[in-house]
Amino acid sequence: MALEVVGGAFLSSALAVLFDRMASRPVVDFIRGNKTTAGLLHKLKIKLLSVNKLLDDAEEKQLRNSRVRGWLNELKDVLFHADDLLDEIKTVALRCKMEQEDSGSNSTNQVLNFSSISFHELDKSLEPRILEILDRLQLIVDEKDVLDLKEGVRGRPHGRLPTTSLVEESGVYGRDEEKEAIIKLLLADGMTGNKTDVLPIVGMGGLGKTTLAQLVYNDDRVKQHFDHQSWSCVSEEFDVIKITQTLYGAVTSEVCNITDLDTVQVKLKKKLTGKKFLFVLDDVWTVNTMEWDLLSRPFECGGHGSKIIVTTRNEGVACRMGTLQCQHLMQLSEENCWLLFGKHAFKNGGVTADLSHEVIGKQIVQKCKGLPLAAKSLGDFYVLNQVLRSGKKY
Ligand SMILES: Nc1ncnc2c1ncn2[C@@H]1O[C@H](COP(=O)(O)OP(=O)(O)O)[C@@H](O)[C@H]1O
Ligand SMILES: [Mg+2]
Repeated sequence: MALEVVGGAFLSSALAVLFDRMASRPVVDFIRGNKTTAGLLHKLKIKLLSVNKLLDDAEEKQLRNSRVRGWLNELKDVLFHADDLLDEIKTVALRCKMEQEDSGSNSTNQVLNFSSISFHELDKSLEPRILEILDRLQLIVDEKDVLDLKEGVRGRPHGRLPTTSLVEESGVYGRDEEKEAIIKLLLADGMTGNKTDVLPIVGMGGLGKTTLAQLVYNDDRVKQHFDHQSWSCVSEEFDVIKITQTLYGAVTSEVCNITDLDTVQVKLKKKLTGKKFLFVLDDVWTVNTMEWDLLSRPFECGGHGSKIIVTTRNEGVACRMGTLQCQHLMQLSEENCWLLFGKHAFKNGGVTADLSHEVIGKQIVQKCKGLPLAAKSLGDFYVLNQVLRSGKKY
């Protein structure tokens, strides 16, 4: 059987889900007090981080090398096993908590009910199962030299491109409620007494934070409400000069090459004085208080009701910058994920008349766990797999 082509972006998303699960309250509660399991899960996390660095290179090489394709398929299988295991831990932990509450124990007690049968059953099987996953992952990591897989080849996490404010709205599924909630906050003036408020949109990579910010940014009501709008893709490095240049460039519709921060800040301040502005700082990875203070100095003279949207996967960044309540973005519904997957996987306007494709497609969509990036990239790779299976040259 021809080996499936696996989307590196999908595996990155699957890894992000695994990391989230490991850090989730029920899992943390479950392993509290169990040093062995905690240690093994820590090892698992380290191993997964090593694998993550190889994904970009493997994604590219799999098209020419079927052994790399096999390697990615094996990895996908192990990730699904790890995901099932963490899912089970979460379910058992929640069940223990419910049993504890039913029996009238103090629900605020952080220690779970260790006498629960389901707890013991899982606890017994846990160690060998994690060890098996670790062994399989070790083999996968060991194979990297034989397959000539290099770490961090594209030098950018998941090879992602910079973002802009433009969006193809017809290709966006769902998000109506989230969009309306954010627009309501943007259009409301004087909620906090601050002249300028900062609204963070938070969620893991690939969830659709940038897309949501784009939808809001391009809405006509928003465009009418603000005197100036500007979009800056920040990414890993919070470069105050670069961000200020971009904001100034958009406000003046001129390319800004001024490299002296003071000069550009003074010019920006002049432009913003008394004007209501909306800035988007997209994909902020890190920022310290000093950098944020420095960047925001020219903003202080803006008109009342000015707003800054920050998208980030980092809660700490959101807390540091935000003055309005964080918008925690939720996963897409399975229905919308299916539509998105179909748009990329099937011709004929995103539908398939072939029942077997629909069955397989829906199984894949379940694995996407509501991540639009995963649905999109798996849809694209589904097409590629069909081409490879048909024996046509790629
Ligand atoms: N609601 C949606 N409908 C269709 N595609 C979406 C949706 N949300 C996100 N996407 C697509 O998924 C990918 C990741 O979305 P993005 O907004 O960049 O995520 P994030 O900023 O959270 O990392 C992009 O290619 C985007 O076009
Ligand atoms: Mg983004």
